[in-house]
Amino acid sequence: MRILRGKGEISEALATARAGRARIGLVPTMGSLHDGHLSLIRTARSECPVVVVSLFVNPTQFGDSKDLASYPRDETSDARFAGAAGADFLFAPSADEVYARGSSTTVRVAGLTDVLCGAPEHRGAEHFLGVTTVVAKLLNIVGPDVAYFGQKDAQQVAVVKRMVTDLDFPVRIATVPTVREPDGLALSSRNARLSAGDRDRATSLYRALQAVERAAKSGASVEAALDAGSTVLEGAGIAPEYFEARDAATLAPVEDFNGRAVLVAIAVLFESVRLIDNVVIESKLADT
Ligand code: PAJ
Repeated sequence: MRILRGKGEISEALATARAGRARIGLVPTMGSLHDGHLSLIRTARSECPVVVVSLFVNPTQFGDSKDLASYPRDETSDARFAGAAGADFLFAPSADEVYARGSSTTVRVAGLTDVLCGAPEHRGAEHFLGVTTVVAKLLNIVGPDVAYFGQKDAQQVAVVKRMVTDLDFPVRIATVPTVREPDGLALSSRNARLSAGDRDRATSLYRALQAVERAAKSGASVEAALDAGSTVLEGAGIAPEYFEARDAATLAPVEDFNGRAVLVAIAVLFESVRLIDNVVIESKLADT
């Protein structure tokens, strides 16, 4: 696997693949790779002859400079993991390489970015402004045929898909299922920062989502299904930042589980560690 740092270098390295019409897969990451990221890379490997992993801790998507400064960085081990999972290239640019001095253009997806994590009382829409701007740049720099994103960050996927559709990016956005610990906790680089007690309580995020799913499948209303999940959270002494059911594509509120994919999403703040998780309930009609 080759590590490349320059925009010019990566397009030069991919020129042969492009000339030969080999499908190029891109897996954007901020490093600190775990099995969730590796699942994206392996999926890309199984579908594309050329796989690029980008490693860039994007400063514009961090609201809090302390969060940015404390973001775990270990390029040597990331490179080893990415290579072993099947990456051909690791694109690891500096912030100066990505953002030219005086860069002032941003890409904003309206509507989808000011709910859930984007609500002003949570992370805020600025976070997604940073995400869409850097993803747009990575898509333009690398020029992949397919870009892989994790279902773990369901809102990010919905926002990126909307951007790609609205701006006619010639790329397919592929979604890869959430990878979990055996007890259900979704893998995240933040899990290591949980206290032992909070690590135990954190299992109730997925248990609450499963309770909603069970209730939905047995015909409960959205409100009653969310209540079933809230009971699980209360049992663990957890008051979530949000715990909501929304249309999986538009993120609009939903009245029922009929006929569309419903995203049930949760965010919980444990001391300074914020965890998110979700499930998608396809349709109770599809199941009967
Ligand atoms: P990062 O948090 O490093 O995540 C990179 C990709 O890995 C995202 O698509 C995320 O959804 C996926 N991922 C993380 N945990 C996962 C899990 N447990 N199971 C499956 N996939 C998982 O998301 C970002 O970086 C950034 O916002 C980025 C898109 C790179 C833009 O800067």
